Amino acid sequence: MTLSRFDFPEGFLFGAATAAYQIEGMRHGAAGPCHWDTFAATPGNVVRAEDGALACDHYHRWPEDLDLLRAANMDAYRFSTAWNRVMPDGVTVNPEGLAFYDRLVDGMLERGLKPFQTLYHWEMPSALADRGGWTNRDTCHRFADFAETVTRTLGDRVETIATINEPWCVAWLSHFMGIHAPGLRDIRAAARAMHHILLAHGLTVDRLRGMGQKNLGVVLNFDYAQPASDSAADIRAAALWDGIFNRWFIEAITRRTYPANVLQGLGPHMPQGWQDDMATIAQPLDWLGVNYYTRHILAHDAGAPWPALRTVDGDRPKTQMGWEIYPEGLHHFLTRMAKDHVGDLPIYVTENGMANPDLPDLPDTVREEFLFAHLAATKRAISDGANVRGFFYWSLLDNYEWAEGYEKRFGLVHVDFDSLKRTPKSSYHALARALARND
Ligand code: NOJ
Repeated sequence: MTLSRFDFPEGFLFGAATAAYQIEGMRHGAAGPCHWDTFAATPGNVVRAEDGALACDHYHRWPEDLDLLRAANMDAYRFSTAWNRVMPDGVTVNPEGLAFYDRLVDGMLERGLKPFQTLYHWEMPSALADRGGWTNRDTCHRFADFAETVTRTLGDRVETIATINEPWCVAWLSHFMGIHAPGLRDIRAAARAMHHILLAHGLTVDRLRGMGQKNLGVVLNFDYAQPASDSAADIRAAALWDGIFNRWFIEAITRRTYPANVLQGLGPHMPQGWQDDMATIAQPLDWLGVNYYTRHILAHDAGAPWPALRTVDGDRPKTQMGWEIYPEGLHHFLTRMAKDHVGDLPIYVTENGMANPDLPDLPDTVREEFLFAHLAATKRAISDGANVRGFFYWSLLDNYEWAEGYEKRFGLVHVDFDSLKRTPKSSYHALARALARND
């Protein structure tokens, strides 16, 4: 099935997303070290110990990359401004870093692309990581300072600002599961990160709103949780996954509460007085970003300590990441967010995409199908009442897929990591055709 922009409401925005560490090349422009550099340099954390030192060299090749967005008839570009580039030690401003983002935003506007900025897409400056990163409450205040500095430079030209990208990854995946930097497997650190990342969000919205900044939001990632059987224990396991992954963040923001089934395990490890922060966390938003990739099937893991659950293999086709393709989940979360949490507030699909072992000269028809199936799910959610205003494909370019290094290719555009040559894939051309205005 193919859709075109005319199947969506007038003004619906189509774009692609990237993030600073994954594409820019941190060795350039006097950026400081961040916790991903050290995580990657520690054996066993990242495939082939690859890091973001050069990545796609977007730092130098950004005009070509913005041209690619424009040539695909896109309306908007979701990018991030790295904390360690703007403030190499987490507090002192690097004018070269700010100047880079200044040029980049102007470059978007010159090409008619609306800039969708993200403030934290995972580059914790090493100097702050040394002081505990997100386990340290003080980091939340330093982050709001960083947000204020960047906004003083870019705030007059960006369309929207997201505080945090995927707090579940920042907190749980990184401090409980140990899969992302800083690679901790510690429930006390995890409980603190789960709370502090939301506090950083709330303090930042408050700070930027105080400066008169409009269009403030957050980007949450959602994972469809399905019980492995209809046993009460498996149903509880799926509800707990849903609690940790999905409800924790959105309910804190829209209801000032954390889900009881998660507090049952995390409660004893939470920072003292966390209840007093809930009003700060629950700042009104102007829009919500939904990132969606897959579903997980959950079973109770008898005898294991809390959270006592394990994932079970599903029967749907899987991507190069091993993630099941399940577009129904996107419809589920878009309608659920509208109905249970944000009502008529604008929702953007801020990320959706798939990894595939692409070669530059072979059509990636599987990505075309993936993309149009998820666009169809989005369209269905709009018909069912969700106020979805845009869709960003992850990602424009093949890039640094964190712990997976450069092997997992998510791009609409193929990148040869030796020559850095960009080659648009067939999915890029299919999307460009779907977005053409015929005028
Ligand atoms: C989530 C993240 O925001 C992004 O950085 C990552 O590359 C994609 N999903 C794919 O895993």
